[in-house]
Amino acid sequence: MRYHIMLFLGFLTTGAAFPAIAANISPIAAKIELGHRLFYDADLSRDGSMSCASCHEQRHAFSDGNPTHPGVTDEDGIRNVPPLENVGQFHTLTWINQHVTTLEDQFFIPLSGHHPVEMGMTDMPELARRLYANPCYRVLFSKAFPEKNIPIDARSVAQAVSAFERELISDKSPWDLRLSGATRSQTNGKKIFFGKGKCSSCHHPPPIH
Ligand code: HEC
Ligand code: HEC
Repeated sequence: MRYHIMLFLGFLTTGAAFPAIAANISPIAAKIELGHRLFYDADLSRDGSMSCASCHEQRHAFSDGNPTHPGVTDEDGIRNVPPLENVGQFHTLTWINQHVTTLEDQFFIPLSGHHPVEMGMTDMPELARRLYANPCYRVLFSKAFPEKNIPIDARSVAQAVSAFERELISDKSPWDLRLSGATRSQTNGKKIFFGKGKCSSCHHPPPIH
């Protein structure tokens, strides 16, 4: 059940509503669906003004078009908002901290980090209370985490959003497909990317398959 970005774009631009929750939805499908909704939900931010998608905009491959993006306190961002395609396959996340290796850990940086403040949500019981107030979430959390007695907590939110992010797979670009072999400029670009430009020492190369 992969949400390919292109399909996903089509799905959203047609203005279709989120799909209804099927009664027999599996826990993994429920986690992805839940993560999808949470990613777009501004209730995750302190003042209800900012979701993950405020900075990671789908129409910009889940980045945005600006040098930086301020958080809820209007503090300036420090770095560019990176796109999120294929993040599920990265070994380290973020530009500066090589110790962030899982999406579940990374989630708490925008949610409650201080440098810079992004979503400003440091009160986890308040987060759980807000989500619990939504009957749709109560159903989805219990379907996504059937093993938990109290399924709505910050850890579950992180797991669901991460499950959604792992579905953001892009592997159909002309370079990925190489339908008619690589062009000369593509081959030159590859040499620069992996060779003298050393771009690949900082930028994750595309997934190999
Ligand atoms: C020393 C590490 C490093 C190297 C080497 C490097 N980059 Fe970057 N690149 C970065 C960082 C960090 C950013 C984000 C800058 C910011 O947020 O302000 C970035 C941003 C970018 C962006 C903008 C991405 C966006 O989402 O807006 C592009 C495009 C880019 N680099 C291309 C390249 C290319 C092409 C090369 C090789 C010729 C290269 N970079 C080499 C670290 C590097
Ligand atoms: C205020 C803007 C903003 C918001 C809101 C935001 N992000 Fe980000 N995100 C960024 C920036 C900027 C970075 C790069 C940070 C760095 O490397 O220092 C980033 C990095 C990431 C990365 C690492 C990508 C990589 O290539 O290593 C992931 C994953 C991510 N964000 C997911 C999320 C999720 C999930 C949420 C919601 C809980 C979220 N972001 C909310 C701005 C934002």
